[in-house]
Amino acid sequence: MPGFRRDAQGAAYLGRTTVRELLERSGLPTPVYLYDLAAIRATATEMTGALGSHPHLLAYAVKANSAGSIVRLLAGLGLGADVVSGGELELARRAGVPARKIVMSGVAKTNDEIDRAIAADILAIQVESAEEIERIAARARATGTRARIAIRVNPGIEIDSHAHIATGHDEAKFGVLRAEVPAAFERIDGEPEHLALVGLSVHVGSMMATPEPYRNAALTITELARARRQKSGSLEYIDFGGGIGIDYGNAPCEPPAAFAAAARTVLRDAGLSDLMLVMEPGRCLVAPSGVLVAKVVGTKVTARNRFLLLDAGMNDLVRPALYGARHRVEPLDWAPGATEYRVVGPVCESADDFGTHAIGDRVPEYVVIRDAGAYGFSMASEYNGRPLPGEVFVDDGAIVSVSPSPGREDWIARRLRA
Ligand code: LLP
Repeated sequence: MPGFRRDAQGAAYLGRTTVRELLERSGLPTPVYLYDLAAIRATATEMTGALGSHPHLLAYAVKANSAGSIVRLLAGLGLGADVVSGGELELARRAGVPARKIVMSGVAKTNDEIDRAIAADILAIQVESAEEIERIAARARATGTRARIAIRVNPGIEIDSHAHIATGHDEAKFGVLRAEVPAAFERIDGEPEHLALVGLSVHVGSMMATPEPYRNAALTITELARARRQKSGSLEYIDFGGGIGIDYGNAPCEPPAAFAAAARTVLRDAGLSDLMLVMEPGRCLVAPSGVLVAKVVGTKVTARNRFLLLDAGMNDLVRPALYGARHRVEPLDWAPGATEYRVVGPVCESADDFGTHAIGDRVPEYVVIRDAGAYGFSMASEYNGRPLPGEVFVDDGAIVSVSPSPGREDWIARRLRA
Protein backbone atom coordinates (compact mmCIF):
# COMPACT_ATOMS: atom_id res chain seq x y z
CA MET A 1 0.00 0.00 0.00
CA PRO A 2 1.52 3.32 -1.02
CA GLY A 3 1.90 6.30 1.32
CA PHE A 4 2.40 6.62 5.05
CA ARG A 5 1.25 3.81 7.33
CA ARG A 6 2.20 1.96 10.52
CA ASP A 7 2.61 -1.76 11.04
CA ALA A 8 1.19 -3.72 13.96
CA GLN A 9 4.22 -2.82 16.10
CA GLY A 10 3.71 0.85 15.31
CA ALA A 11 6.75 1.42 13.08
CA ALA A 12 6.25 4.14 10.45
CA TYR A 13 6.42 3.09 6.78
CA LEU A 14 6.42 4.80 3.42
CA GLY A 15 5.12 2.09 1.14
CA ARG A 16 6.94 -1.18 1.83
CA THR A 17 9.90 0.20 3.78
CA THR A 18 10.18 1.73 7.22
CA VAL A 19 10.90 5.42 7.31
CA ARG A 20 13.86 4.69 9.60
CA GLU A 21 15.41 2.37 7.06
CA LEU A 22 14.87 4.89 4.26
CA LEU A 23 16.40 7.60 6.40
CA GLU A 24 19.45 5.50 7.20
CA ARG A 25 19.85 4.31 3.60
CA SER A 26 19.63 7.88 2.28
CA GLY A 27 22.52 8.93 4.49
CA LEU A 28 20.99 12.41 4.73
CA PRO A 29 20.90 14.30 8.00
CA THR A 30 17.65 15.62 9.44
CA PRO A 31 15.57 17.66 8.91
CA VAL A 32 14.71 15.82 5.72
CA TYR A 33 11.59 15.36 3.61
CA LEU A 34 10.72 11.89 2.33
CA TYR A 35 8.10 11.43 -0.38
CA ASP A 36 6.43 8.30 -1.70
CA LEU A 37 6.08 8.67 -5.47
CA ALA A 38 3.82 5.60 -5.55
CA ALA A 39 1.26 7.47 -3.44
CA ILE A 40 1.34 10.44 -5.82
CA ARG A 41 0.95 8.11 -8.80
CA ALA A 42 -2.04 6.39 -7.14
CA THR A 43 -3.89 9.65 -6.48
CA ALA A 44 -3.17 11.03 -9.95
CA THR A 45 -4.39 7.81 -11.53
CA GLU A 46 -7.53 7.86 -9.41
CA MET A 47 -8.31 11.42 -10.48
CA THR A 48 -7.66 10.69 -14.12
CA GLY A 49 -9.92 7.65 -13.84
CA ALA A 50 -12.72 9.77 -12.36
CA LEU A 51 -12.54 12.08 -15.39
CA GLY A 52 -12.84 9.06 -17.67
CA SER A 53 -13.37 9.71 -21.33
CA HIS A 54 -14.24 13.37 -20.80
CA PRO A 55 -11.65 15.55 -22.59
CA HIS A 56 -9.59 16.85 -19.71
CA LEU A 57 -6.30 18.19 -18.43
CA LEU A 58 -5.10 17.87 -14.86
CA ALA A 59 -2.74 20.80 -14.55
CA TYR A 60 -0.66 20.08 -11.45
CA ALA A 61 -0.13 23.23 -9.36
CA VAL A 62 3.66 23.17 -9.33
CA LYS A 63 3.81 25.59 -6.38
CA ALA A 64 2.72 22.76 -4.08
CA ASN A 65 5.98 20.90 -4.69
CA SER A 66 8.28 21.65 -7.59
CA ALA A 67 10.64 18.67 -7.17
CA GLY A 68 11.75 17.35 -10.57
CA SER A 69 11.03 13.76 -9.50
CA ILE A 70 7.42 14.72 -8.86
CA VAL A 71 6.83 16.97 -11.88
CA ARG A 72 8.48 14.41 -14.20
CA LEU A 73 6.36 11.61 -12.74
CA LEU A 74 3.14 13.58 -13.25
CA ALA A 75 4.17 14.67 -16.75
CA GLY A 76 4.77 11.01 -17.56
CA LEU A 77 1.23 10.21 -16.43
CA GLY A 78 -0.07 12.79 -18.89
CA LEU A 79 -0.68 15.61 -16.45
CA GLY A 80 -0.01 19.23 -17.30
CA ALA A 81 1.09 22.08 -15.07
CA ASP A 82 -0.34 25.20 -13.52
CA VAL A 83 2.57 27.61 -13.10
CA VAL A 84 2.80 31.03 -11.49
CA SER A 85 6.24 32.31 -12.44
CA GLY A 86 8.83 32.22 -15.19
CA GLY A 87 10.80 29.83 -12.98
CA GLU A 88 7.95 27.35 -12.64
CA LEU A 89 7.20 27.68 -16.37
CA GLU A 90 10.77 26.74 -17.37
CA LEU A 91 10.93 24.01 -14.75
CA ALA A 92 7.71 22.40 -15.98
CA ARG A 93 8.90 22.48 -19.58
CA ARG A 94 12.30 21.01 -18.75
CA ALA A 95 10.61 18.34 -16.64
CA GLY A 96 8.77 17.23 -19.76
CA VAL A 97 5.40 18.96 -19.57
CA PRO A 98 4.35 19.87 -23.14
CA ALA A 99 3.77 23.64 -23.51
CA ARG A 100 0.17 23.09 -24.58
CA LYS A 101 -0.49 21.43 -21.22
CA ILE A 102 0.67 24.46 -19.23
CA VAL A 103 -1.50 27.27 -17.88
CA MET A 104 0.03 30.29 -16.21
CA SER A 105 -1.71 32.22 -13.45
CA GLY A 106 -0.55 35.13 -11.28
CA VAL A 107 -1.73 38.67 -10.62
CA ALA A 108 1.57 40.41 -11.27
CA LYS A 109 3.20 38.66 -14.19
CA THR A 110 6.19 40.59 -15.45
CA ASN A 111 6.68 41.42 -19.12
CA ASP A 112 9.49 38.87 -19.21
CA GLU A 113 7.14 36.17 -17.90
CA ILE A 114 4.46 37.15 -20.41
CA ASP A 115 7.00 37.08 -23.27
CA ARG A 116 8.20 33.62 -22.24
CA ALA A 117 4.67 32.29 -22.02
CA ILE A 118 3.78 33.69 -25.45
CA ALA A 119 7.00 32.39 -27.01
CA ALA A 120 6.49 28.92 -25.53
CA ASP A 121 2.91 28.92 -26.88
CA ILE A 122 1.45 27.51 -23.69
CA LEU A 123 -2.20 26.49 -23.44
CA ALA A 124 -3.05 29.91 -21.97
CA ILE A 125 -1.96 32.83 -19.90
CA GLN A 126 -4.77 33.18 -17.37
CA VAL A 127 -5.32 36.91 -17.03
CA GLU A 128 -6.31 38.40 -13.73
CA SER A 129 -7.31 41.97 -14.67
CA ALA A 130 -8.40 44.24 -17.51
CA GLU A 131 -5.05 46.01 -17.21
CA GLU A 132 -3.21 42.75 -17.74
CA ILE A 133 -5.10 42.17 -21.00
CA GLU A 134 -3.70 45.50 -22.23
CA ARG A 135 -0.20 44.54 -21.19
CA ILE A 136 -0.39 41.17 -22.93
CA ALA A 137 -1.80 42.80 -26.06
CA ALA A 138 1.09 45.25 -26.06
CA ARG A 139 3.65 42.41 -25.69
CA ALA A 140 1.99 40.42 -28.49
CA ARG A 141 2.00 43.50 -30.73
CA ALA A 142 5.63 44.22 -29.93
CA THR A 143 6.67 40.67 -30.77
CA GLY A 144 4.30 40.21 -33.71
CA THR A 145 2.60 37.24 -32.06
CA ARG A 146 -0.85 36.13 -30.94
CA ALA A 147 -1.24 35.41 -27.23
CA ARG A 148 -3.49 32.59 -26.10
CA ILE A 149 -5.30 33.87 -23.03
CA ALA A 150 -7.96 32.76 -20.58
CA ILE A 151 -9.86 34.92 -18.15
CA ARG A 152 -9.53 33.95 -14.51
CA VAL A 153 -12.88 34.91 -13.09
CA ASN A 154 -13.28 36.05 -9.50
CA PRO A 155 -16.66 34.48 -8.69
CA GLY A 156 -17.25 36.42 -5.46
CA ILE A 157 -17.50 33.26 -3.36
CA GLU A 158 -16.44 32.89 0.27
CA ILE A 159 -15.13 29.48 1.27
CA ASP A 160 -14.72 28.07 4.73
CA SER A 161 -10.95 28.13 4.84
CA HIS A 162 -8.12 30.10 6.42
CA ALA A 163 -8.24 33.75 5.24
CA HIS A 164 -4.74 33.43 3.77
CA ILE A 165 -5.83 30.70 1.38
CA ALA A 166 -9.28 31.99 0.35
CA THR A 167 -8.94 33.70 -3.01
CA GLY A 168 -12.36 33.81 -4.67
CA HIS A 169 -14.08 36.55 -2.67
CA ASP A 170 -14.58 39.94 -4.28
CA GLU A 171 -12.01 41.76 -2.14
CA ALA A 172 -9.20 39.42 -3.17
CA LYS A 173 -6.50 40.57 -5.56
CA PHE A 174 -7.22 37.58 -7.78
CA GLY A 175 -9.23 37.32 -10.96
CA VAL A 176 -11.50 39.52 -13.04
CA LEU A 177 -14.80 40.32 -11.32
CA ARG A 178 -17.72 38.54 -12.90
CA ALA A 179 -19.45 41.78 -13.82
CA GLU A 180 -16.38 42.87 -15.79
CA VAL A 181 -16.06 39.69 -17.84
CA PRO A 182 -18.34 40.70 -20.77
CA ALA A 183 -16.26 43.84 -21.32
CA ALA A 184 -13.12 41.71 -21.24
CA PHE A 185 -14.60 39.41 -23.92
CA GLU A 186 -15.24 42.43 -26.10
CA ARG A 187 -11.79 43.84 -25.59
CA ILE A 188 -10.12 40.56 -26.51
CA ASP A 189 -12.36 39.98 -29.54
CA GLY A 190 -11.50 43.49 -30.72
CA GLU A 191 -7.87 42.54 -31.43
CA PRO A 192 -7.99 39.04 -32.95
CA GLU A 193 -4.61 39.39 -34.63
CA HIS A 194 -2.87 39.54 -31.22
CA LEU A 195 -5.28 38.03 -28.69
CA ALA A 196 -7.12 34.72 -28.70
CA LEU A 197 -9.51 33.90 -25.88
CA VAL A 198 -9.23 30.14 -25.38
CA GLY A 199 -10.54 29.54 -21.87
CA LEU A 200 -12.24 30.59 -18.69
CA SER A 201 -10.90 29.71 -15.27
CA VAL A 202 -11.75 30.07 -11.63
CA HIS A 203 -10.05 29.23 -8.33
CA VAL A 204 -11.78 29.98 -5.06
CA GLY A 205 -9.15 28.92 -2.58
CA SER A 206 -7.49 25.99 -0.95
CA MET A 207 -8.53 23.24 1.46
CA MET A 208 -12.14 22.67 0.42
CA ALA A 209 -13.51 19.67 2.32
CA THR A 210 -16.45 19.03 -0.01
CA PRO A 211 -17.08 19.66 -3.71
CA GLU A 212 -19.93 22.09 -2.90
CA PRO A 213 -17.98 25.40 -3.16
CA TYR A 214 -16.04 23.94 -6.09
CA ARG A 215 -19.33 23.24 -7.84
CA ASN A 216 -20.64 26.73 -7.09
CA ALA A 217 -17.56 28.38 -8.55
CA ALA A 218 -17.78 26.06 -11.55
CA LEU A 219 -21.40 27.06 -12.11
CA THR A 220 -20.40 30.72 -12.26
CA ILE A 221 -18.04 30.21 -15.12
CA THR A 222 -20.12 27.62 -16.99
CA GLU A 223 -22.81 30.29 -17.16
CA LEU A 224 -20.29 32.71 -18.66
CA ALA A 225 -19.04 30.02 -21.04
CA ARG A 226 -22.54 29.34 -22.26
CA ALA A 227 -23.23 33.03 -22.77
CA ARG A 228 -20.06 33.34 -24.80
CA ARG A 229 -20.87 30.34 -26.93
CA GLN A 230 -24.36 31.60 -27.66
CA LYS A 231 -22.72 34.67 -29.14
CA SER A 232 -20.66 32.24 -31.23
CA GLY A 233 -17.46 33.13 -29.41
CA SER A 234 -15.00 30.30 -29.42
CA LEU A 235 -13.65 28.59 -26.31
CA GLU A 236 -11.35 25.58 -25.97
CA TYR A 237 -11.44 24.87 -22.28
CA ILE A 238 -12.96 25.59 -18.91
CA ASP A 239 -10.80 25.43 -15.78
CA PHE A 240 -12.28 24.91 -12.33
CA GLY A 241 -9.00 25.46 -10.49
CA GLY A 242 -7.52 23.62 -7.54
CA GLY A 243 -8.28 23.75 -3.85
CA ILE A 244 -9.19 20.14 -3.11
CA GLY A 245 -8.54 19.59 0.59
CA ILE A 246 -6.99 16.65 2.41
CA ASP A 247 -7.55 15.25 5.87
CA TYR A 248 -4.66 16.37 8.06
CA GLY A 249 -5.99 14.04 10.75
CA ASN A 250 -8.57 16.35 12.26
CA ALA A 251 -11.34 16.76 9.68
CA PRO A 252 -12.50 14.38 6.98
CA CYS A 253 -12.38 15.47 3.36
CA GLU A 254 -14.04 14.08 0.29
CA PRO A 255 -11.61 12.38 -2.09
CA PRO A 256 -10.27 14.15 -5.20
CA ALA A 257 -12.33 11.81 -7.38
CA ALA A 258 -15.52 13.30 -5.86
CA PHE A 259 -14.42 16.77 -7.01
CA ALA A 260 -13.63 15.42 -10.47
CA ALA A 261 -17.04 13.77 -10.66
CA ALA A 262 -18.74 17.02 -9.56
CA ALA A 263 -16.87 18.96 -12.24
CA ARG A 264 -17.99 16.52 -14.92
CA THR A 265 -21.58 16.74 -13.79
CA VAL A 266 -21.57 20.55 -13.92
CA LEU A 267 -20.34 20.46 -17.51
CA ARG A 268 -22.81 17.79 -18.55
CA ASP A 269 -25.74 19.66 -17.03
CA ALA A 270 -24.64 22.87 -18.75
CA GLY A 271 -24.46 21.12 -22.12
CA LEU A 272 -20.73 21.85 -22.31
CA SER A 273 -19.42 18.29 -22.36
CA ASP A 274 -17.37 18.96 -25.48
CA LEU A 275 -15.27 21.62 -23.71
CA MET A 276 -11.96 20.43 -22.33
CA LEU A 277 -12.17 20.32 -18.54
CA VAL A 278 -9.08 21.61 -16.74
CA MET A 279 -8.48 21.12 -13.02
CA GLU A 280 -5.48 22.47 -11.10
CA PRO A 281 -4.89 20.14 -8.15
CA GLY A 282 -1.84 20.78 -6.01
CA ARG A 283 -2.11 19.73 -2.40
CA CYS A 284 -4.29 16.65 -2.82
CA LEU A 285 -1.80 15.05 -5.20
CA VAL A 286 1.29 15.46 -3.06
CA ALA A 287 0.55 16.39 0.59
CA PRO A 288 -0.24 12.90 1.94
CA SER A 289 2.80 11.41 0.17
CA GLY A 290 5.36 13.33 2.22
CA VAL A 291 6.75 13.35 5.74
CA LEU A 292 9.27 15.66 7.29
CA VAL A 293 11.59 13.74 9.60
CA ALA A 294 13.14 15.68 12.46
CA LYS A 295 15.55 14.67 15.17
CA VAL A 296 14.58 15.30 18.76
CA VAL A 297 17.22 17.61 20.17
CA GLY A 298 15.90 17.28 23.70
CA THR A 299 13.12 18.21 26.05
CA LYS A 300 12.46 21.21 28.24
CA VAL A 301 10.06 21.08 31.15
CA THR A 302 8.68 24.30 32.59
CA ALA A 303 5.91 25.02 35.09
CA ARG A 304 3.45 25.34 32.22
CA ASN A 305 4.78 23.18 29.43
CA ARG A 306 6.55 19.99 28.50
CA PHE A 307 8.39 20.89 25.29
CA LEU A 308 9.80 18.50 22.72
CA LEU A 309 12.58 20.37 20.91
CA LEU A 310 13.17 19.48 17.25
CA ASP A 311 15.90 20.17 14.73
CA ALA A 312 13.15 21.13 12.23
CA GLY A 313 11.45 24.48 12.46
CA MET A 314 9.16 26.93 10.74
CA ASN A 315 11.80 27.60 8.11
CA ASP A 316 11.46 23.95 7.01
CA LEU A 317 7.64 23.78 7.30
CA VAL A 318 5.92 27.13 7.72
CA ARG A 319 2.27 26.05 7.52
CA PRO A 320 1.63 25.85 11.29
CA ALA A 321 3.18 29.30 11.85
CA LEU A 322 1.54 30.94 8.83
CA TYR A 323 -1.94 29.40 8.80
CA GLY A 324 -2.29 27.86 12.25
CA ALA A 325 -2.23 24.54 10.36
CA ARG A 326 -1.96 21.31 12.30
CA HIS A 327 0.31 18.55 11.03
CA ARG A 328 0.42 15.37 13.08
CA VAL A 329 3.77 14.97 14.83
CA GLU A 330 4.44 11.36 15.81
CA PRO A 331 7.35 9.24 17.00
CA LEU A 332 9.18 7.58 14.13
CA ASP A 333 9.50 4.15 15.74
CA TRP A 334 6.23 3.72 17.61
CA ALA A 335 2.62 4.76 17.42
CA PRO A 336 1.68 7.90 19.38
CA GLY A 337 1.42 7.20 23.14
CA ALA A 338 -0.56 9.03 25.79
CA THR A 339 2.02 11.51 27.09
CA GLU A 340 1.69 14.82 25.32
CA TYR A 341 4.38 17.29 24.40
CA ARG A 342 4.30 20.78 23.03
CA VAL A 343 6.44 20.30 19.91
CA VAL A 344 8.58 23.28 18.92
CA GLY A 345 11.44 24.07 16.57
CA PRO A 346 14.71 25.95 17.05
CA VAL A 347 13.78 29.19 15.26
CA CYS A 348 13.74 32.36 17.34
CA GLU A 349 10.05 33.05 16.86
CA SER A 350 7.18 32.08 19.16
CA ALA A 351 5.27 30.98 16.06
CA ASP A 352 7.84 28.20 15.56
CA ASP A 353 5.46 25.79 17.23
CA PHE A 354 3.97 22.59 15.79
CA GLY A 355 1.34 22.30 18.54
CA THR A 356 0.66 19.72 21.25
CA HIS A 357 0.94 16.07 20.25
CA ALA A 358 0.67 12.67 21.88
CA ILE A 359 4.18 11.22 21.86
CA GLY A 360 4.36 8.61 24.61
CA ASP A 361 6.36 7.79 27.71
CA ARG A 362 9.74 7.56 26.08
CA VAL A 363 11.42 10.46 24.31
CA PRO A 364 11.82 9.41 20.67
CA GLU A 365 15.05 9.81 18.73
CA TYR A 366 13.14 11.05 15.68
CA VAL A 367 9.64 12.26 14.89
CA VAL A 368 7.72 12.33 11.62
CA ILE A 369 5.67 15.38 10.73
CA ARG A 370 2.93 14.02 8.51
CA ASP A 371 1.22 15.19 5.30
CA ALA A 372 4.11 17.52 4.54
CA GLY A 373 4.37 16.80 0.80
CA ALA A 374 2.62 20.03 -0.27
CA TYR A 375 3.68 23.57 0.60
CA GLY A 376 6.44 22.16 2.79
CA PHE A 377 9.77 22.29 0.99
CA SER A 378 8.31 24.71 -1.57
CA MET A 379 7.76 27.32 1.17
CA ALA A 380 10.94 26.59 3.10
CA SER A 381 13.46 29.34 3.82
CA GLU A 382 16.92 29.76 5.27
CA TYR A 383 15.75 31.95 8.14
CA ASN A 384 18.00 31.86 11.20
CA GLY A 385 20.94 30.65 9.14
CA ARG A 386 19.31 27.30 8.61
CA PRO A 387 20.06 25.64 5.27
CA LEU A 388 17.16 24.26 3.24
CA PRO A 389 16.29 20.67 4.21
CA GLY A 390 17.20 17.62 2.14
CA GLU A 391 14.70 15.53 0.20
CA VAL A 392 14.41 11.80 -0.50
CA PHE A 393 12.17 10.30 -3.18
CA VAL A 394 10.90 6.77 -2.68
CA ASP A 395 9.08 4.54 -5.13
CA ASP A 396 7.79 1.08 -4.38
CA GLY A 397 9.83 0.98 -1.17
CA ALA A 398 13.15 1.95 -2.80
CA ILE A 399 14.97 5.27 -2.87
CA VAL A 400 14.96 6.58 -6.43
CA SER A 401 16.62 9.95 -5.89
CA VAL A 402 17.96 12.22 -3.18
CA SER A 403 18.44 15.96 -3.06
CA PRO A 404 20.77 16.78 -0.18
CA SER A 405 20.56 20.00 1.76
CA PRO A 406 22.94 22.63 0.32
CA GLY A 407 24.37 22.65 3.83
CA ARG A 408 25.71 25.16 6.26
CA GLU A 409 28.94 26.01 4.42
CA ASP A 410 26.98 26.92 1.30
CA TRP A 411 24.78 29.27 3.33
CA ILE A 412 27.73 30.88 5.06
CA ALA A 413 29.61 31.38 1.81
CA ARG A 414 26.63 32.99 0.08
CA ARG A 415 25.88 35.31 2.99
CA LEU A 416 29.50 36.33 3.27
CA ARG A 417 29.51 37.22 -0.42
CA ALA A 418 26.40 39.37 0.01
N1 LLP B 1 -4.65 27.07 -8.90
C1 LLP B 1 -4.44 28.31 -8.45
C2 LLP B 1 -4.72 29.45 -9.32
C3 LLP B 1 -3.93 28.50 -7.15
O1 LLP B 1 -3.75 29.72 -6.70
C4 LLP B 1 -3.66 27.37 -6.33
C5 LLP B 1 -3.13 27.53 -5.00
C6 LLP B 1 -3.89 26.09 -6.86
C7 LLP B 1 -4.39 25.97 -8.14
C8 LLP B 1 -3.61 24.84 -6.09
O2 LLP B 1 -4.39 24.78 -4.94
P1 LLP B 1 -4.41 23.42 -4.06
O3 LLP B 1 -5.06 22.37 -4.91
O4 LLP B 1 -3.03 23.07 -3.74
O5 LLP B 1 -5.21 23.80 -2.88
N2 LLP B 1 0.38 27.61 0.95
C9 LLP B 1 -1.01 27.31 1.28
C10 LLP B 1 -1.83 27.03 0.05
C11 LLP B 1 -1.79 28.17 -0.94
C12 LLP B 1 -2.51 27.87 -2.19
C13 LLP B 1 -2.26 28.92 -3.22
N3 LLP B 1 -2.90 28.67 -4.46
C14 LLP B 1 -1.03 26.15 2.25
O6 LLP B 1 0.03 25.66 2.62
O7 LLP B 1 -2.10 25.75 2.71
